[in-house]
Amino acid sequence: MGEDGCRPHTFLNGEGGVLMEIKKVGVVGCGLMGSGIAQVAATAGCETVVREISDELLQKGLARIDQSLSKFVQKGKLTPEQKEEIQGRLRGTTELDAFADCDIVIEAIIENLQEKLKTYAQLDEICSPETIFASNTSSLSITEMMASTKPARQPRFVGLHFFNPVPLMKLVEVVRTILTDEAVFETVTDFARRLGKVPVQTSDRTGFIVNRLLVPYLLDAIRALEEGVGSIVDIDNGMKLGCGHPMGPFTLLDFVGLDTTYYIANIMFDEFKEKRFAPPPLLKRMVLAGLYGRKTGKGFYDYSDPENPKPMNLV
Ligand code: CAA
Repeated sequence: MGEDGCRPHTFLNGEGGVLMEIKKVGVVGCGLMGSGIAQVAATAGCETVVREISDELLQKGLARIDQSLSKFVQKGKLTPEQKEEIQGRLRGTTELDAFADCDIVIEAIIENLQEKLKTYAQLDEICSPETIFASNTSSLSITEMMASTKPARQPRFVGLHFFNPVPLMKLVEVVRTILTDEAVFETVTDFARRLGKVPVQTSDRTGFIVNRLLVPYLLDAIRALEEGVGSIVDIDNGMKLGCGHPMGPFTLLDFVGLDTTYYIANIMFDEFKEKRFAPPPLLKRMVLAGLYGRKTGKGFYDYSDPENPKPMNLV
């Protein structure tokens, strides 16, 4: 974080006047992604409010932020005082009304279009007409969400796609729709930079940049396993040690979640009708069997002993 914290963002509208500043950040959802986004916003010096649907889920999310900040303190990347300051800038709530005066609201709720549309309808009423709306969706249409908001909001609607684990991963995809205002797009890109991230700009095409390339790769690894090209461990080692990836494809699939990957692949297949996005039968069977990866304790690996995951016998 810079000494000056989350410096106000000013940007120009088409006529050259100052349109608004980003000082207060709202994050909808305090799950894995929402908690990470709220953490990096507060760490960057922004006044941040994060909302969950129940107090229990909120406390779980805030505890995740506390653990992550503690890790940074242990590593000497933050002082205990800085951790306290960050948490002082962060407020948890169960009320959407808390977003009324936010300059940007980043939505990171469950990947379900109907739920997101309901949330945007409420936010559109609650928030100032100036508030920028940003969705962290990885695969749903930003345009479809944008189109459900009032016409005046639509130029102020973008995608802002973070990567898991948010406090560590440097990338953010900044996504424009056909209607996104250029100044809004540049402001949000600059905001991502101020969060300490590297923004990449893209347009609203399902999967954006990363999942367009990552999803077929992950699905191909499953096809290779199905075809007996190699074992789970050997395919993982192949990509880790042969290509310098931090995780092999099966470790990454378990990390992202097989349910999530299956969901994204189906949306991408539906959009592009290309075989490379079609979920392989093994992935479907694993999801049906509840083998979602780390979150359920079993996926391509069994995490009963988390320090020593064992490959599953699947084919
Ligand atoms: N906050 C703070 N510290 C954290 C943390 C968090 N949330 N998560 C992990 N750490 C710490 C660990 O405790 C560990 O600390 P020590 O060095 O003290 O042990 C350190 O970070 C490194 O972690 P690991 O030991 O687990 O090992 P690593 O070197 O493999 O790093 C990783 C972890 C950054 C996750 C790395 O493995 C990696 O980059 N993996 C790929 C992740 C990836 O591809 N993510 C994108 C998924 S796709 C997506 O998110 C979008 C989508 O649409 C599906």
